[in-house]
Amino acid sequence: MTSILSNSQIDKIRKAGRIVSACHVSLRDFIRPGLRTSDIDKFVGDFIVSHGAVPAQIGYMGYPYATCTSLNDEICHAFPDETVIRDGDVLKVDFVVNLDGWLADSAWCYAVGGISKEAALLMKTTRECLYLGIRQAIAGNRIGDIGNAIQNHAESKGMSVVREYTGHGINTIMHDGLVVPHYGRPGKGTRIREGMVFTIEPMINAGAPGCTIDNDGWTARTADGSLSAQYEHTIAILPNGPEIITEQD
Ligand code: MF3
Ligand code: CO
Repeated sequence: MTSILSNSQIDKIRKAGRIVSACHVSLRDFIRPGLRTSDIDKFVGDFIVSHGAVPAQIGYMGYPYATCTSLNDEICHAFPDETVIRDGDVLKVDFVVNLDGWLADSAWCYAVGGISKEAALLMKTTRECLYLGIRQAIAGNRIGDIGNAIQNHAESKGMSVVREYTGHGINTIMHDGLVVPHYGRPGKGTRIREGMVFTIEPMINAGAPGCTIDNDGWTARTADGSLSAQYEHTIAILPNGPEIITEQD
C-alpha cells in the first residue's frame, strides 16, 4: 500500500526538500580533493541542524551517520570515515532530512577534481536515467514504466542497473510501502496516482550489475570493481505531472 498525501502534507515534504536541495547546492563548492568523507558528513549534519531539521539517517535501522558517502566502486550506503577523497574520484552523497516529522531524500553524485571520460559519461548517463524515469512518473502510468525507461537508457550505453536497491514511498517514514525498481516492463506494477510521494534513485554501474556487501554490513560495491553512479530525487505526483521536491537551483 502507498499513502496518498494531501497538498498540505506534500507542503511539509516540500519544506524538508528545500533544505536537502540547498545542502546539495552548497556541497558543489565544499567538495574538493583532500577532504575526508567524515568532513562531508559533518558539513551536511551541521547544515541540516542549523536549518532547524534533523538528519533522519542517524539511527535508522542502526545506521550511524547523517550521510552515506560512497566512492567509485561503492554503489551506496558507505560510512563516512577517515578516507581522503582524491582528484579523479566519483563521490555519491546521500542523506534524508526530517523537518517537523516530514522527510525528503536525495542522493547526488560529485566529480572530485578532474575525472576520467568514462566516469563523466557514467555520471551524465545516470543523471539522464533519473530524469527519464521522472518523466514517466505521471498519474495513470505504472511503476514499471519508470524502471523500463531507466533500464533502456542505461543498457543502450552498455551500462547496467543495480537490482538490489530501489526507490521508495516516503512521507513521515523513510521507506513507506511502495517499491520503485530501476528496471522493469512497461505497463507493469502498481498504478501511479495523484498524491503519491516517492523517490527515484537509479544506481548505474559502468560494468556488470552485480553487487556485494562489505563486512560492515552496509557498504554496497560493484562485484566487478567497476564504477557506479547514483542520483536521487524525491518527487510528488500532481495532476499536471511530477513535481521534483528536491530539485536544485
Ligand atoms: N537515502 C537512503 C535511501 O534512499 C537511505 C539509506 S539507508 C540509511 O533510502 F540507513 F542510511 F538511512
Ligand atoms: Co532513497
